[in-house]
Amino acid sequence: MKINGQRLIDDLKNLREITATPGQGVTRFSYTEEDRRARDYLARVADVYGFRMETDAIGNIRIYPPESKGSTIIGSHIDTVRNGGWLDGIYGVMSGMEALRAFADHGAQTDAALMVYAEEEGSVFGSTMTGSKFLTGKYGKADLTTLKDEQGATLKEHLETCGYLSAGNDNTDFRMDFSSVRCALELHIEQGPVMDAEGLQIGIVDTVFGMHVLEITYSGLGNHAGASPMIGRRNPMSAFGEAAVVIEKAALEAGHGVVATIGKVVASPGGSNVIPDSVRFTVDIRSNDDARTNETVETIRSLAKEIASRRNIDCTIRDAADSSAIPFSRNVIDRMAELAEEQGINYRVMDSGAVHDTAMLAPYTEAGMIFVPSINGRSHVPEENTREEDLIRGAQFLKDFIEAFK
Ligand code: GLV
Ligand code: MN
Ligand code: MN
Repeated sequence: MKINGQRLIDDLKNLREITATPGQGVTRFSYTEEDRRARDYLARVADVYGFRMETDAIGNIRIYPPESKGSTIIGSHIDTVRNGGWLDGIYGVMSGMEALRAFADHGAQTDAALMVYAEEEGSVFGSTMTGSKFLTGKYGKADLTTLKDEQGATLKEHLETCGYLSAGNDNTDFRMDFSSVRCALELHIEQGPVMDAEGLQIGIVDTVFGMHVLEITYSGLGNHAGASPMIGRRNPMSAFGEAAVVIEKAALEAGHGVVATIGKVVASPGGSNVIPDSVRFTVDIRSNDDARTNETVETIRSLAKEIASRRNIDCTIRDAADSSAIPFSRNVIDRMAELAEEQGINYRVMDSGAVHDTAMLAPYTEAGMIFVPSINGRSHVPEENTREEDLIRGAQFLKDFIEAFK
């Protein structure tokens, strides 16, 4: 039973247009106008097929074909990073939709449902996999107000504005009932260089890296750039510069695939002729081994503090997000490998350095993920791309696996 590959590609191209940064990659943040337009697009497709669409209090969407109870959950996300690519997340969502359409086109029943996890990227609130963390109880009522955007607006306020959470109704149990869920699946682009370099067609994910995000703020003495002698300054930007170098060194010395990234820096007040009074930056630390990740987090914490005390500036460190390394179901991995072999597909089992909502569900149900190659391993940038034949092959493999894993 073939999917309609061209229809999938057309949908992805249409959805690429829904962005806040035309010509500069895709920026489709959660709970914004662009997000709403992508949701409307999904609703229109679902409507054509008579699929039922439900949105929960966090903005997670579930789409069910008429007879489906959703024992197989296929899902991904529609939000992006700033100036991100056209495939991260939405490819898995539209491929799931395409699988459901293919079953319907062929008059075949399926018990699968499509899940769109809200705010996966953490672009708005700084914490990844927000929707699935609520679904699995890692987040609850308190997080509705502790999660805040850059302007200080809470997640709760965003949800109320969108109409997902009704005012005074934050005692909702956000958790998903897994009692009738058999498995959770996600198709995604690899986002790294391995598959493209090795000429692989399908990746089967073994372990999703754990991650820990620190938000470090150095506060010193803001002052005039010209009138303040170099001696005696308490410049948080210089502390940041030193920290950036030692953090990279700490990850390199940790080895074993540990990675650490400073992706966001905000100098305040931010003038070319002003010594900033504070510099706030994030450090994203990941690996497939929680002990190693935690060890590196602690090393970075103490290095950051040591730099501050030597330079006589203040240092506060906030733990912005964390998630454990999560292995997928061995049974799902083996069955995916069997299917790939049967189909003569060039595959390999590999870890994922990127995090994914389906990993959050893995402790509650059998879960697994499929990768397709990313050209030159680029992702979270406008250049993110995958050959159309690989996109179509991945979606077909997803649909075939749903059928095979009965
Ligand atoms: C999400 O894409 C992440 O891995 O940060
Ligand atoms: Mn993603
Ligand atoms: Mn992403």
